[in-house]
Amino acid sequence: VIDEERVMILKTLCVMICFASLTVHLIPVSTAKNGVSSKSRKRIMPNPVTEPPVMDPIYEALLYCNIPSVPERSMEGHAPHHFKLVSVHVFIRHGDRYPLYAIPKTKQPEIDCTLVANRKPYHPKLEAFVSHMSKGSGASFESPLHSLPLYPNHPLCEMGELTQTGVVQHLQNGQLLRDIYLKKHKLLPSDWSTDHLYLETTGKSRTLQSGLALLYGFLPDFDWKKIYFRHQPSALFCSGNCYCPVRNQYLEKEQRRQYLLRLKNSQLERIYGEMAKIVDIPTKQLRAANPIDSMLCHFCHNVSFPCTRNGCIDMEHFKVIKTHQIEDERERREKKLYLGYALLGAHPILNQTISRMQRAAEGRKEEIFTLYSAHDVTLSPILSALGLTEARFPRFAARLIFELWQDREKPSEHSVRILYNGIDVTFHTSFCQEHKRSHKPMCPFENLVRFVQKDMFAALGSSSASYYEACHREGF
Ligand SMILES: *[C@@H]1O[C@H](CO)[C@@H](O)[C@H](O)[C@H]1NC(C)=O
Ligand SMILES: *[C@@H]1O[C@H](CO)[C@@H](O)[C@H](O)[C@H]1NC(C)=O
Repeated sequence: VIDEERVMILKTLCVMICFASLTVHLIPVSTAKNGVSSKSRKRIMPNPVTEPPVMDPIYEALLYCNIPSVPERSMEGHAPHHFKLVSVHVFIRHGDRYPLYAIPKTKQPEIDCTLVANRKPYHPKLEAFVSHMSKGSGASFESPLHSLPLYPNHPLCEMGELTQTGVVQHLQNGQLLRDIYLKKHKLLPSDWSTDHLYLETTGKSRTLQSGLALLYGFLPDFDWKKIYFRHQPSALFCSGNCYCPVRNQYLEKEQRRQYLLRLKNSQLERIYGEMAKIVDIPTKQLRAANPIDSMLCHFCHNVSFPCTRNGCIDMEHFKVIKTHQIEDERERREKKLYLGYALLGAHPILNQTISRMQRAAEGRKEEIFTLYSAHDVTLSPILSALGLTEARFPRFAARLIFELWQDREKPSEHSVRILYNGIDVTFHTSFCQEHKRSHKPMCPFENLVRFVQKDMFAALGSSSASYYEACHREGF
């Protein structure tokens, strides 16, 4: 590692630690007891070159919850003065939600999914959001999105339903982006119209509602006539280019790797056995119910883990499963099978994004703000494909942003910035890692274009020159 790089890594580390300690001060007392020591705090972004990443499961889980607190500092919209913001492309994961699966034979956590202004977490725009949504207009959505409720409204959450926390997370995201992109950089003209936006969501209520909350925080006047959400059937956002047999083969191999790693973890097997005894079902059935999803909901909402007459699920169980998840992610990076899946899975949406950026660079004013309201299984492949190996698993309400900038001094030159949860990760991407050494403040847009059109396929270790070829490679 050369010294310059070391300095950069240290700077990044500092940013990460500052963010981290900000969060650590705000965690609930009850969870703080569970061992977020200063030692583990210092290690959240370990230097991947010199030390093996040791991560604290409780600390990681808290980051995942993303409990709304004071607004974080963010690096969005930072550029030298002679750069003009041309377009912004935002990928979000939906906000905090109720579990997708129940732990069999246990009481589900009692969480209220109605939106109540005087209940925490609160946002100044929450009431106005509810009243605006309740006057929703059916013309604003592509079929079948019309049938979805526009905000969460069940006194006992339904499976997968967005919670008040989830709404507040995205109202905050929207407000933050509004301050930066609209107030500071004047991305949208004052007479903006529906043509300036491109909005797309999967067909789940939690993604549509998250997108609406973000837009409600973002837009200067949320006018239903100017909103049009398209429906995306695929969580990969691959539109007409979803058929890709080689991608599926990578995924199968990746799942096999995951399975083998789990078998090797005797502590995990023991914990699953213990939990299965508590809830009195076969271990296999418990594992299939994906208990960590439900346990994370208990954890994020400070609701104690469920008990039966045989005992209680407890923090030790949680820590072991969460630690295994972290180890699984580490092995996933090393073995690169997921990378193959990710490169092919993310290509269509990245290709679409660079096309939109190219049109904006040519001076077209349409679709200069894009919002894709999506899932962890959308953001994860994009992060991996971009080479952001150090990026954490997408937390609730995670945001990944592509900014396109024009150099006013050389108007034909455009640059790109990539931000993940407010952190500038541009020079960690595989298409701009090298560029960092040249000390230029910005990454040329051509690098991203070249990567998506060509280098992505080379990264697969194949001679394929196109998405179609790479997807249909024989003898893989
Ligand atoms: C979490 O729950 C415990 C026990 O129910 C309570 O004492 C504590 O104040 C709660 N913490 C927060 C931040 O709500
Ligand atoms: C990539 O984008 C171009 C231009 O929009 C389009 O013609 C092409 O079909 C896209 N390819 C894939 C694989 O998405």
